[in-house]
Amino acid sequence: MEEKGFSKGLARKDLLSIEQLTTEEIWTILRTARSFREVLERPIPIVPSLRGKTIVGLFFEPSTRTALSFALATKRLSGDYQSFSLSSSSVAKGETVLDTLKNIEAMRIDGVVIRHPNPGIGHFLAKRLTCFVINAGDGAHEHPTQALLDIYTAWEKNNYKTLEKKKVLIIGDILNSRVARSDIYGFSKLGAEVALAGPPPLLPPEAKTLGVKIYYQIDDILPEFDIIIALRIQSEREKGLSPIPNLREYRKHYGITRERLKRIRDDTLLFHPGPVNWGVELDFEVSKDIRSTILGQVKNGVAVRMAVLLLLAKGDEI
Ligand code: CP
Repeated sequence: MEEKGFSKGLARKDLLSIEQLTTEEIWTILRTARSFREVLERPIPIVPSLRGKTIVGLFFEPSTRTALSFALATKRLSGDYQSFSLSSSSVAKGETVLDTLKNIEAMRIDGVVIRHPNPGIGHFLAKRLTCFVINAGDGAHEHPTQALLDIYTAWEKNNYKTLEKKKVLIIGDILNSRVARSDIYGFSKLGAEVALAGPPPLLPPEAKTLGVKIYYQIDDILPEFDIIIALRIQSEREKGLSPIPNLREYRKHYGITRERLKRIRDDTLLFHPGPVNWGVELDFEVSKDIRSTILGQVKNGVAVRMAVLLLLAKGDEI
């Protein structure tokens, strides 16, 4: 399947969601990322593909992995990456995001990477800017590069064989999760079967319309899955009353505990997008478990973001 329809570039200007991408485009990104994974193993992991290009990172929400890996990805491609502190920018004086970006664009940049709490802000900006826009997480809507690195990691761990019919279980705070939405679209487009599990208040009603199975308990189903993705409980997005009684109760029913690790197959991959609430979504034992791919996901994030930047900036092929 992955051979069919492979093309060298992306026809689109921006990367705003996985929902928009065709299966062909996802494969183009994965294959390009594979070349960059090899580059990243070299003694000097730098190629000249984005020489002369400038990317700006604007993070209106905290980030470690995404922000730093976009910066590193640009530098590994020999491009310039500028990020700035929003608290010391004119955003703090009330300048709108669009005005901010119009001003940054006037300084002749090629692309912007934006994380913002408003769902759909990337679409709004992309229509109004000439430079390309990459959505690095928009509220609870999508986080496309996280899904791409998750899919890449699953593909790599599957010896670059098809993910068709692979069974993926996403556990936890689906309600607030942009990662869940992007993973559902992405894994499904590649033919994997996605299921969701969590307490009913954290499973949004529209989840049923996304063509996924839904479970309210996990103990009996864990052995069925090839990939298990635990999500962070996003307490910071709760407005008013918490939808779950408390974190201890959550761990008891949905955490990947030492006991539950015994129910998971030896060949299953354990993912978490980070940051992890250890002792809630995952017991600390998971960090030492051979099935845990959490740091592998982070490592692959640089190669995947190099691929996305190269394809959108129309940089030189390596
Ligand atoms: N997975 C993820 O988006 O992590 P950061 O919030 O640290 O970027």
